[in-house]
Amino acid sequence: MKVFVNKRIPDNGIQILKDGNLDIIFQETENPTHEEWLESCKQADIILSVGGKNKYDKEFFDACPNVKAIALFSVGFDQVDIEEATKRKIAVGNTPDVLSRATSDVAFLLMQMVSRKVNYNTAKVKSGNWKDFHPLEELGQELYGKTLGVLGLGRIGFEMAEKCKAAFGMNIIYHNRSHNEEAEKELDAKYVSFDELVQKSDIISIHANYTPEQADLFNTSVFEKMKENLIFINTARGGFHNEKDLFEALISGKIWGAGLDVTNPEPMQKDSPLLELPNVCVLPHIGSATLEARSGMARLAAENVVAFSKGEKMPTCVNP
Ligand code: DGY
Repeated sequence: MKVFVNKRIPDNGIQILKDGNLDIIFQETENPTHEEWLESCKQADIILSVGGKNKYDKEFFDACPNVKAIALFSVGFDQVDIEEATKRKIAVGNTPDVLSRATSDVAFLLMQMVSRKVNYNTAKVKSGNWKDFHPLEELGQELYGKTLGVLGLGRIGFEMAEKCKAAFGMNIIYHNRSHNEEAEKELDAKYVSFDELVQKSDIISIHANYTPEQADLFNTSVFEKMKENLIFINTARGGFHNEKDLFEALISGKIWGAGLDVTNPEPMQKDSPLLELPNVCVLPHIGSATLEARSGMARLAAENVVAFSKGEKMPTCVNP
């Protein structure tokens, strides 16, 4: 079977594909046009897909009737119309667990960076504007004993909550599709409605799977209900928040600050007004960017491809 790998992935993944006797097609150009990418997809039985830009929807499946499986190099699967793929018996796999630690580390890091305005303060040093010690300047807020609200308490959300509890003795509240009994038992986490999460949290960290119905879930009407000291953390998908409304909430002091590893749109434009704010820290979608997580992702994605090529179910299959 032919597998199209659209970007370079760690070697351990390529080795698994070679050992599985797959015929590998690599993307020849560095930044392919949509047409170039589609041409490569058309030749493949299976796609090992890296990145969120390429959409696998009805239009794609019609254009590439040979494609029988998509092994995503990500835990998120919002780039695929799962219902349509399932209807057409196209298998879809993702890469859960292996990046939970790395991604929750970034959420934890952003929370601390925003609470102490690290971005702004390092810029101050670099620009030569650090003049003197002042008792009333650059004051951050401490995180001890605060309430962390997790939207989507799955594997990544659990790791974030665990770190916040261990490091800062935080109270954990969460909103999810269903109860997470392990978190309730181990972290004394409390299930709350979305409204309660918004109103009671000091920090909100998003770790849910993104679906189009959740577009702009965090908008002005939601930001208005938050506490003034709220730190908003998004390491999931930029679509969850409305960037203009977030900017308004920050500049008007409705909330304290924001740490984003994902933006809307992505990549964030360099003239985004959010980048001018002292209480904002933006990273370029690096949640899973560690050697360990990326080699784990390469292994899982390649194992999904090999399993499918042998007529087996993908080990981490997303289809219901
Ligand atoms: C994921 O795995 O979903 C990360 O966001 C990278 O796309």
